[in-house]
Amino acid sequence: MKNFEQRVFSGVQPTGTLHLGNYLGAIKNFVELQNKYNCVYCVVDQHAITVEQNPAELKSNILEVLASFIAAGVDYKKQIIFQQSSVPAHSQLAWVFNCVSRIGWLNRMTQFKDKAGKNKENVSVGLMVYPNLMAADILAYLATHVPVGDDQKQHLELSRDIAQKFNNDFGVDFFPLPEPLIYGNATRVMSLRDGTKKMSKSDPSDFSRILLTDEDDIIVSKIKKAKSDSELIPSSLDDLEAKPECLNLINILSASLNQEASKTLGQYAGKEYSTLKKDLAECLVQVISPIRVEIKNLLNNQDELNAILATGTEKASLIANPILEDVYKIVGFK
Ligand code: TYM
Repeated sequence: MKNFEQRVFSGVQPTGTLHLGNYLGAIKNFVELQNKYNCVYCVVDQHAITVEQNPAELKSNILEVLASFIAAGVDYKKQIIFQQSSVPAHSQLAWVFNCVSRIGWLNRMTQFKDKAGKNKENVSVGLMVYPNLMAADILAYLATHVPVGDDQKQHLELSRDIAQKFNNDFGVDFFPLPEPLIYGNATRVMSLRDGTKKMSKSDPSDFSRILLTDEDDIIVSKIKKAKSDSELIPSSLDDLEAKPECLNLINILSASLNQEASKTLGQYAGKEYSTLKKDLAECLVQVISPIRVEIKNLLNNQDELNAILATGTEKASLIANPILEDVYKIVGFK
């Protein structure tokens, strides 16, 4: 396999206000990686419509995700941030991949099975071929590294399978096999109400998640009400395994402080949850409040946000269009 120029790509769906899981699992890493790589970060609006969206809300969510990237520290001047639907190469490459990827592969995707549930015959075709579009997002830039949370791991494996099959089918060494970057203590931030469920935008309980736009007092009360138990905090990570809610709080604090979970546990072992929660709430207020303030400021200037998106579209197209041209030649369209 040839030596591909290293490039990072990742995407976030504009399906609602971003939460602590999105931040600690993905966006915080986006910010770190920009010191080392050329990065392309995308607001994936085409993924969002695989389930029903209110058009007016979708439109405002696109700007809110963009504002969240910038407020969290993504450098839009040095890196590329843009909106997926504004670069048609994504859907054009996705069509080619629809013809490379196999139905059997898509049928195995656990996220599809979870989202479709018993309703498999009645969900959109888009929801099923969603991972093919995701592969197109990444490979339209020949990206080599993809920072994501743990829930996207299987989709990333499928992207690698698609890249490999395309290369084999056409006898080329054209696409890199993108590597997932899933790291840190918060690869899977869990619900504050149920430590066995992922923190997600769609959970009916507002108290299950902390939003990047939550006011300080809301953050404090959500952490105070987070599920824990009446015993003292255990001293070993093994004992923590049986206490998913406690493990989650320790992991969130460790990720926010950039320190190992074992170190955090050492600081709280034998203490009451109220002590841990008090410190965690203070820490999260420090992390989130500057982001919240900046999101609000940015959203007050929508013309500027739209200008940033337009520049991003131009820069992204300059990379993706020639790659699509080459794909069209490889498959025999040109
Ligand atoms: P999305 O929009 O659901 O989530 C955005 C990012 O946040 C991560 N994440 C979490 N990390 C830790 N704990 C959680 N509870 C948690 N919830 C979400 C996700 O793993 C993700 O990294 N399919 C993708 C978007 C996408 C994409 C791409 C990603 C489209 N094309 C190409 C990478 C490359 C998604 O739905 O993410």
